[in-house]
Amino acid sequence: MALYDDAQFFDAYGQMARSRGGLAAAGEWHQLRPLFPPLAGSRMLDLGCGYGWHCRYAAEQGAREVLGIDASRRMLAAAAEKNAHPAVTYRLCAIGDYDYPPESWDLVFSNLALHYIAGLDDVFARVFRTLRPGGVFLFNIEHPTFTAGVGQQWLTDEQGRPLCWPVDDYYRPGPRQTVFLGRTVEKYHHTLTQILGGLLACGFCLEAVEEVVPAADTLTQPGMADELRRPMMLLVRARRPQRTPAPGDA
Ligand SMILES: C[S@@+](CC[C@H](N)C(=O)[O-])C[C@H]1O[C@@H](n2cnc3c(N)ncnc32)[C@H](O)[C@@H]1O
Repeated sequence: MALYDDAQFFDAYGQMARSRGGLAAAGEWHQLRPLFPPLAGSRMLDLGCGYGWHCRYAAEQGAREVLGIDASRRMLAAAAEKNAHPAVTYRLCAIGDYDYPPESWDLVFSNLALHYIAGLDDVFARVFRTLRPGGVFLFNIEHPTFTAGVGQQWLTDEQGRPLCWPVDDYYRPGPRQTVFLGRTVEKYHHTLTQILGGLLACGFCLEAVEEVVPAADTLTQPGMADELRRPMMLLVRARRPQRTPAPGDA
């Protein structure tokens, strides 16, 4: 069963601010939104679309076709309820199972789903193939400093105040057991070199790399000032070049 199909986990996820408030309540949106390429007339694939907030956003910006895939039936049922749009299709499909037809999409997008994937190289290669030349791969993944965090928890003092964010085994990529929304959840740690170098090795050109910094007007909210102490999310925009360089090209 997909993690997000677990009834308790799904309900807890539904209580998060981002689940109730949508994009405006997502801490990364102020940095992610400007990274979208022009969407009018485009075709967008969303990997791990969840409730479908970004699918509807793309359609409302004029995308002519949007496909959101996700491994969770419950998340897709919520997407159909919250973010239906005539240009958007939601499909039950794991990121590793999609067929990635060649040169089909103008934008492949993914928000906070790729840290559930063990092998990024394989996904990167498939995304490269399914983008039309000149197309964009835009994603938000948990930052390597976050995924290498010991238990993804602050070290705290006796009063429970965060002392520091311990990082260990950074150069040992792979599965990490974490507690998220009251459940043990397996995520995958990928080093920065694996993420950025993996894209370059596929032939992508990097256009933007940003670590999410909380918006100034959110810093008075509980816990938000601590979000300035270590990065949690990494935003990357990469482009498939118009022409794939041939071996020996300068
Ligand atoms: C944190 S939620 C993010 C949802 C959405 N992208 C958003 O930003 O609102 C992660 C989503 O990724 C999906 N997911 C995790 N692993 C997946 C996989 N291997 N294939 C497809 N979807 C996956 C989950 O079901 C969940 O809906």
